[in-house]
Amino acid sequence: MSLKTVILGVGAYLPARVLTNTELSQRVDTSDAWIIERTGIRERRIAGETERTSDLAIAAARQALERAGRDGKDIDLIIVATTTPDLTFPATAARVQAALRAQGAAFDLQAVCSGFIFALTTADNFLARGQAKRALVIGAETFSRILDWDDRGTCVLFGDGAGAVVVEAQSEAEANGRGVLSTFIRTDGRMHDLLYTDGGPSQTGTVGKVRMVGNAVFRQAVEHISGAMLEACARADTPIDAVDWFVPHQANQRILDGVARKLGISTEKVISTVALHGNTSAASVPLALEAAISDGRIKQGDLVLMEALGGGLTWGAALARL
Ligand code: UT7
Repeated sequence: MSLKTVILGVGAYLPARVLTNTELSQRVDTSDAWIIERTGIRERRIAGETERTSDLAIAAARQALERAGRDGKDIDLIIVATTTPDLTFPATAARVQAALRAQGAAFDLQAVCSGFIFALTTADNFLARGQAKRALVIGAETFSRILDWDDRGTCVLFGDGAGAVVVEAQSEAEANGRGVLSTFIRTDGRMHDLLYTDGGPSQTGTVGKVRMVGNAVFRQAVEHISGAMLEACARADTPIDAVDWFVPHQANQRILDGVARKLGISTEKVISTVALHGNTSAASVPLALEAAISDGRIKQGDLVLMEALGGGLTWGAALARL
């Protein structure tokens, strides 16, 4: 019997503190006008001093569970996609599991900004094989902790937040057309040096700060994201025109526009939260999904194509009927 990975509920959490472009321009040589023109970002959220990635993840997961009409004990798999774990170990997912009183297995997954797509792909495979019944797939980041606040090329781009989805394995009859229809993930480690941290437990014994060759990543992003979207559609034998909503990773409005132009997609179908969230890395896709469900744009039954590209380089796309 073939099983489908059905999305039952989506939740989000954003820290209270808003950091504006104007505040940043008092710290580094930048301006509100430059940031808006080159990225579309107006503000981003920053986690409080004692707020950990797991706190953000737990808050988003609780909302997703409530909306799914499920409880922590119904969950037997938790995957937290994060680049900014609470600690080097144990996994941030372990703390999330304990807080939610969930069962089964819980682990972190590291694919930087593509983390949510990689985690959803992983959960889909676990559910399809019957190795878990109900999973929480979470993207959670406190990226502000690994930024070099003197580097204007990166510190203006990122923000903190978390998004979560509850997915359930259902028979095709029960799913009735809903569920994850296809996924596609890729890594090309030869582009490692385009986006990385200059520290880590094994190499330096420190956490390190984000380093990026922004314009090179930009060029890769438009190319690979477009390719991943077409591949995910091809794998589901679905024309891209049939997609109701595009939920992209929120790195830069110009990337969203570039991809839409390249694939002939109406920008009205592209969900954009970059102005208010900035780039929240692994959290950005579920945060954008949650925003568009909450404001009534994305409804049950809609066909949604999610995509992302991040450090590694990694990239991917996932097509799902909600
Ligand atoms: O989520 C993971 C994937 N990440 C991404 O997808 C990010 C992709 N990259 C980007 O979004 C863009 O490349 C950036 C927003 C990072 C930069 O925009 P750009 O148009 O590619 O600018 P650039 O890097 O080519 O730099 C152009 C100029 C440089 O000055 P000079 O050398 O021409 O004098 C930079 O120093 O812009 C300067 N610059 C800034 N100026 C004011 C870079 N950052 C800033 C800033 N404020 N914050």
